[in-house]
Amino acid sequence: MSFASQWVVRARHVASALRRDLALRRAVARVRRLRAGDAPSPSDLARLRAAFGNDGWSAGVPYLEELCRLVGQTHGAILECGSGVTTLLLAALTESDQRPVLALEHLPDWHARMRRDLFRLGAQGFDLRCLPLASYGAFDWYRRPLLPPGLLFSLVACDGPPGQTRGGRYGLLEVMSDHLADECVILLDDAQRESEQQVVRRWKERFRVVETHGCERYVALLLRGKEAPLPGAADPRSAPPRAVPVAP
Ligand SMILES: C[S@@+](CC[C@H](N)C(=O)[O-])C[C@H]1O[C@@H](n2cnc3c(N)ncnc32)[C@H](O)[C@@H]1O
Repeated sequence: MSFASQWVVRARHVASALRRDLALRRAVARVRRLRAGDAPSPSDLARLRAAFGNDGWSAGVPYLEELCRLVGQTHGAILECGSGVTTLLLAALTESDQRPVLALEHLPDWHARMRRDLFRLGAQGFDLRCLPLASYGAFDWYRRPLLPPGLLFSLVACDGPPGQTRGGRYGLLEVMSDHLADECVILLDDAQRESEQQVVRRWKERFRVVETHGCERYVALLLRGKEAPLPGAADPRSAPPRAVPVAP
């Protein structure tokens, strides 16, 4: 490639990055400008999702709408599993009241990209941690985050780790139950997939979890008290490691 063509390719790349940056800033600014208690409209959320530009991996607009609603209805700390456009949305929604949010990401490159986006949007203080997936015996999940004793999450945006992870998203309740509030709400994405349905079945067998509402793509679950695990439920951490079948 000639020097001139290399320059053109580079200029196009820079222009496209600037366009994305501007669209993302505008979309996040619309969410930030909302008065306390107002929820972003579906078109605001669609704009944010499009500007973020990770279509196949981003939660859908109905999930984002429900996340906004639940942020408004719950109090206390929020946990996010699997970062992306949901992270930018949570950062914008909680900025004014400084509500604590912890987001977990297992891919270093994706974590770096998210950190860059958060920094550019002025949310550099947002707690996004890069924690690799670790084995807990019969399942894998994020390495346990170091947290202040007594910190309780009242809402979990559960959209990671990815479906092909051993055990999928099952590890959330096993690994984090000490830090989940009584009546914690878990918003699980991709509920139409067999792997997520299997996770919900396994949670119900072992923990006091009920489905409250949902749609084709997501389900909201309520953790009913923390006397879990249920009597007689087998502890998968003591089971020999085995492959958990998950859908692609
Ligand atoms: C379903 S995505 C999480 C999406 C996030 N909640 C959102 O709505 O944007 C789950 C994980 O997939 C990984 N991921 C996200 N985008 C990806 C991409 N374009 N290619 C490969 N992995 C990706 C990240 O590790 C992320 O934590």
